[in-house]
Amino acid sequence: MDTERLSAKDIQQAARIVASGGLLGIPTETVYGLGANGLDEAAVHAIFEAKGRPQDNPLILHIPSADWLERYCGEIPETAWALARRFWPGPLTMILKRKPIVPDAVTAGLDTVGMRCPDCAVTRQVIAAAGVPVAAPSGNASGRPSPTTAAAMLEDMDGKIDAILDDGACAVGVESTIIDLTVDPPRLLRPGGVTLEELEEALGEVAVDEAVRRLMAPGEQPKAPGMKYRHYAPKAPVTVVKGDADMTAGYIVARMGDKSGVICFDEFKGYFRGHPVETIGPRADQAEQARRIFEALRAFDRLEVTDIWAQSPEDIGLGLAVTNRLNKAAGFHIIELP
Ligand code: TXA
Ligand code: MG
Repeated sequence: MDTERLSAKDIQQAARIVASGGLLGIPTETVYGLGANGLDEAAVHAIFEAKGRPQDNPLILHIPSADWLERYCGEIPETAWALARRFWPGPLTMILKRKPIVPDAVTAGLDTVGMRCPDCAVTRQVIAAAGVPVAAPSGNASGRPSPTTAAAMLEDMDGKIDAILDDGACAVGVESTIIDLTVDPPRLLRPGGVTLEELEEALGEVAVDEAVRRLMAPGEQPKAPGMKYRHYAPKAPVTVVKGDADMTAGYIVARMGDKSGVICFDEFKGYFRGHPVETIGPRADQAEQARRIFEALRAFDRLEVTDIWAQSPEDIGLGLAVTNRLNKAAGFHIIELP
């Protein structure tokens, strides 16, 4: 099929595509998503097909405002309303008990569903005009880094979706934070645009799922099924080097091969002359690092490199999400300098 390019003036057309069971690339503040009518089982199956996504990996539902929550979720705790007031629209997905109206295809048979209200006005308008929740995983082919521009999404999805709505580059750049509110204390399943520190401030105690910080062993089941898959990975193997930035830069220079690529902070670009280098912003600017990390990973698939070395940000604040994506891209191949 031909994938149509739409813009913010085409909200009605985009809504018609969703309402009629089509596949639509949607902008959000985090990453572009591959959206379809979340109540239409066949449309949801088409999402899995286009992405090559394993069937046991559930999708999240996107809604235009918190007052749609009760249509799809039951037993909604007070904490959910409090988080919605504080962080929605914004990069937070809440896991809640689902109502039977939500198809099994969305939840992969779980009795819970992920709910998110994105901080992107055009997408909220499309959802409201379509009158249905939009199921949307990130718009990459399964396993690849998530797309933060319409062009990046088209690298994976051109010809496989009906249309894409281009609203420019994503402001956050890493996916939403996922918090499970069906357990006590609430559990962080995926770090993202809302930080763990912000959640702790709002909720008190927050448990952190083990899959956030380490590789799951074969057979282990993280609470967010998607966290067990190899993910975000460029073709070349990635090694992450943790520690003081001056030390990690020196360590990489001393070990890299002729055809190694490097992901580094802006200040260290000069260390790696003659090598393909993707910078992710100044070492102190976590928001910029979040915006650029996926494009940096994607860039190496357009280049000839044997391997990739990456300077690791600190895993506090937004850095927990950036390091999680980088560590997953590396299959948790991490070197920690003293
Ligand atoms: O920022 C985002 O969340 C983006 C944009 C497009 O909204 N979407 C996104 O979706 O990242 P996806 O499918 O790539 O990642 C959703 C994650 C997966 O790891 C999935 O396993 C987990 O959410 N998930 C979905 N429903 C769940 C549920 N009921 N319980 C636990 N984990 C769930
Ligand atoms: Mg994804």
